[in-house]
Amino acid sequence: MDDKVALVTGGTRGLGKAIALALRERGCKVAATWHGDEAAARRLEEEAGIATFRWDVADFDACRAGVARVAERLGPVDVLVNNAGITADAMFHKMDEAQWWNVLRTNLGSMFNVTRQVIEGMRARHYGRIVNISSINGRKGQMGQSNYAAAKAGIFGFTKSLALENAAHGITVNAVAPGYCDTDMVAKVKPEVLQAIVAGIPVGRLGTPQDVARMVAFLADEAAGFVTGATFDVNGGQYLA
Ligand SMILES: NC(=O)c1ccc[n+]([C@@H]2O[C@H](COP(=O)([O-])OP(=O)(O)OC[C@H]3O[C@@H](n4cnc5c(N)ncnc54)[C@H](OP(=O)(O)O)[C@@H]3O)[C@@H](O)[C@H]2O)c1
Repeated sequence: MDDKVALVTGGTRGLGKAIALALRERGCKVAATWHGDEAAARRLEEEAGIATFRWDVADFDACRAGVARVAERLGPVDVLVNNAGITADAMFHKMDEAQWWNVLRTNLGSMFNVTRQVIEGMRARHYGRIVNISSINGRKGQMGQSNYAAAKAGIFGFTKSLALENAAHGITVNAVAPGYCDTDMVAKVKPEVLQAIVAGIPVGRLGTPQDVARMVAFLADEAAGFVTGATFDVNGGQYLA
């Protein structure tokens, strides 16, 4: 993947950081985006020399301006990992409009907002690798996550349609559906709930960010050109349990 330009949204913490590091290790020039946690972004720049960019993936115009800054600094994007995401959990009968739309706009709206900025260039250059980060809960649903599960399930339809539209243009589009991994997002889950979740994972542990990053790096590779429109579970067997 030497000198391919990779854009990882939410690439400064958690799964995104591991993905950014894995792509850099494989030779990509990596741009990692963030939104609120400046300290994490600075740390990644200092520790790994990865370029970081701040914008809100829920805002289309901010994505247009942000992707233009990435292209100016590193070159046009060859590999896009749509990873940024949030949770705002509540039982549906208690969920307010802000919790619903914030999660939909950030987790699903971002698929349009960011991908739309790179797809024409990828088609023109006849090359692209797009990996969309969904979730096990987009497959199976989860109590208190009707907003999150709806957004993550939407990613599957988006991925397949985009894969079909672009298969003849050298662009692959795939989804990765992680199970529960050890990141800040999962640290927000109550300890007793998390304990019960881990008990239901056949391999007997949470995933690591690297478990997910290795799958993304495989799909982002030039050699994975025959893999498109697919979803890859990285969940320790939890979906089967
Ligand atoms: N961890 C898991 O177990 C798990 C399981 C299944 C799926 N996933 C999915 O994997 C992805 C990463 O999860 P994670 O656990 O690594 O999350 P995380 O540790 O909370 O990190 C989220 C990243 O997304 C960025 N972000 C959030 N909202 C943003 C916005 N509006 N604009 C731009 N960037 C934004 C954050 O930026 P700041 O640092 O600036 O806040 C951060 O870099 C998410 O899509 C999540 O739904 C995670």
